[in-house]
Amino acid sequence: MAEKTDVTWHTHQVTREDRERLNGHHGCVVWFTGLSGSGKSTIANCVERQLYDCGVHSFLLDGDNLRHGLNASPAMLAAAHGDAFAQRFGLGFSADDREENIRRVGAVAELFAAAGLVTLTAFVSPYRRDRDAVRRLVESFGRPGDFIEVFVDTPLEICEQRDPKGLYRKARSGQLKAFTGVDDPYEAPGQAELTLDSGRSSPEVLAGRVVSYLRERGKIR
Ligand code: ADX
Repeated sequence: MAEKTDVTWHTHQVTREDRERLNGHHGCVVWFTGLSGSGKSTIANCVERQLYDCGVHSFLLDGDNLRHGLNASPAMLAAAHGDAFAQRFGLGFSADDREENIRRVGAVAELFAAAGLVTLTAFVSPYRRDRDAVRRLVESFGRPGDFIEVFVDTPLEICEQRDPKGLYRKARSGQLKAFTGVDDPYEAPGQAELTLDSGRSSPEVLAGRVVSYLRERGKIR
């Protein structure tokens, strides 16, 4: 196995600043966190629409979608790659698997931000430590303030009433184990840059708050 020191970092001719000049705005990571059904994906989608409409280059990384590819489950990988590979690299919902999910996605989000995109992510990301590690990564390659944590603070009862995928029902009946908010923890952010209550305002209004924040901080014009 290659040692850490056997791998060399290359500096590229086209810099992040060059890309940002070309785009006319900064790259950054807008990290949505909250319970399943809290509205992360819906709000992030509205933010992306609003950004697109004002000419901002963005990309949305969504938990459910990435778990079909980069972070596929062992069951999804087994047919093409065999059981041993699937067990080694496939991800489920244990604390370690969630940590690896967020580590991989954090690394991808950092690359997208370096490419000059306003990178939106929508992951439950229940552990503060994992989110803080992404914050450090993004800010160490970029600038302080490049990681914007958005806590979608929707009460569990509302998420459970919505239950868009029927997963809370499965979790309550014991068919699904370690479901966040039911029998697995969610650690709310202590100091998120933005906290949104999706029980009170529409996704469009909440998305507008995110876009305004990006303008106020000079990320976009
Ligand atoms: S995270 O915890 O690792 O950040 P991620 O955002 O990728 O989770 O995926 C969460 C989505 O997977 C949920 O919206 C839900 O649809 C689904 N899911 C399936 N099992 C679980 C579980 N045990 N806990 C939370 N979400 C689950």
